[in-house]
Amino acid sequence: MNQPVDAFWMPFTPNRRFKAAPRLLVSARGVRYTAADGREVLDGISGLWCVGAGHGHPRIREAMKAQMDTLDFASNFQVGHPGAFALAERIADLAPEGLDRVFLVNSGSEACDTALKIALAYWQAVGQGQRNLFVGRERGFHGTGFGGISVGGMTLNRRAFGGAMLRSDHLRSTWDPANQAFVRGQPQTGAEFADELETRILALHGANNIAAVVVEPVAGSTGLLIPPLGYLQRLREICDRHGLLLIFDEVITGFGRFGDMFASQALGVVPDMILFAKTVSNGAAPLGGVIVHRRIHDALMQGPEFLAELMHGYTCSGHPLACAAGLAMLETLEQEQLIARVRSLTPVLENAVHGLASLPGVVSVRNLGLAAGVELAVKDGQPGLRGAMAQAAAFDFGVLTRAPGDTLILAPPFVSEPEEIHQMVARLASAIESTF
Ligand SMILES: Cc1ncc(COP(=O)(O)O)c(C=O)c1O
Repeated sequence: MNQPVDAFWMPFTPNRRFKAAPRLLVSARGVRYTAADGREVLDGISGLWCVGAGHGHPRIREAMKAQMDTLDFASNFQVGHPGAFALAERIADLAPEGLDRVFLVNSGSEACDTALKIALAYWQAVGQGQRNLFVGRERGFHGTGFGGISVGGMTLNRRAFGGAMLRSDHLRSTWDPANQAFVRGQPQTGAEFADELETRILALHGANNIAAVVVEPVAGSTGLLIPPLGYLQRLREICDRHGLLLIFDEVITGFGRFGDMFASQALGVVPDMILFAKTVSNGAAPLGGVIVHRRIHDALMQGPEFLAELMHGYTCSGHPLACAAGLAMLETLEQEQLIARVRSLTPVLENAVHGLASLPGVVSVRNLGLAAGVELAVKDGQPGLRGAMAQAAAFDFGVLTRAPGDTLILAPPFVSEPEEIHQMVARLASAIESTF
């Protein structure tokens, strides 16, 4: 393929290296991509944690085509279209009890910034506007908006933009290699890492200055860090004791990946807001949102009735095509019982990836739901180098993966066959071996 590649400044990509040897994907069906050179590449990462129902799903394709023929665009500013209302109702039905108001956006980053703004507006509305400090967590990822990088804890995502952050502090990450390196499911140790919220952060800043605590229930973008048993429960208890809002970023965990509709349900802790994106539309259209507890929403329904209660939104918030994709995806999850399928595939992936523990240079294997991380020893004192090599090699061996740092991630589509998961893991093993 003779596609010029200079003009497109690629996101989160080493542009110079990519453009020296482009890896282009030209089509996809089910769990397979086809590369520009005609090779088949198994989709080991569901596109980018999005394509749970597999690529080109007929129900989603048809729904989007029908929407295109009926209503290509209508804004949701002062007018509306039925799809956005229908999608929000459906999501509210699926969410934990009490969380039943849905603000629609186009991405996980927008969802994060939206949630932080709702939190600030809420505290102003209830007469506690001094609460404007956010608590995130080291190694957390909440997208790339200024709010998201402020509460996020990925050092490289913050460094170049340090002057423009919201007021924030960060919990330590839950990662504890001495005790969690080779664990199946949730680690038994580490619940006490949550206590730092009370003993250090609240002690330092004062609970009544804090707007919200923002964490991913399972951290994906820094190499699949799984919450220790009891950790999220303790965070919830501390937030309740001090009246803090707890926000879960479910951008990768939402809509089935961990064996329930939301990780909040899978792990048994209900936050005050849930951020979502990715799987909600099966990746077929940009779509995200914030599910808000009704009491927060209701507190903001005040002021003159001719004015918007929240001065916030995006031109494409609740875009008709995205809503059509979202509704079709939610129907697909239900009709094809894909969440039950995630549960039945979980031990298949778990057993297969833990089989890689004996490969030389593998320093950790961890998994939860239909996601797994295989961490490799740092090469030449340069963190991330071996991960990048292994990710490129995996593509050549025919499996698409992600490598945050030196951890290779597998998060296969929910529709994968057990045999396909074995193939993905086998190709990953070849890629790992090629880097030593
Ligand atoms: C937990 C989490 N939050 C937010 C985001 C940002 O989402 P987006 O890239 O759609 O802005 C991501 C993306 O991977 C994510 O994993």
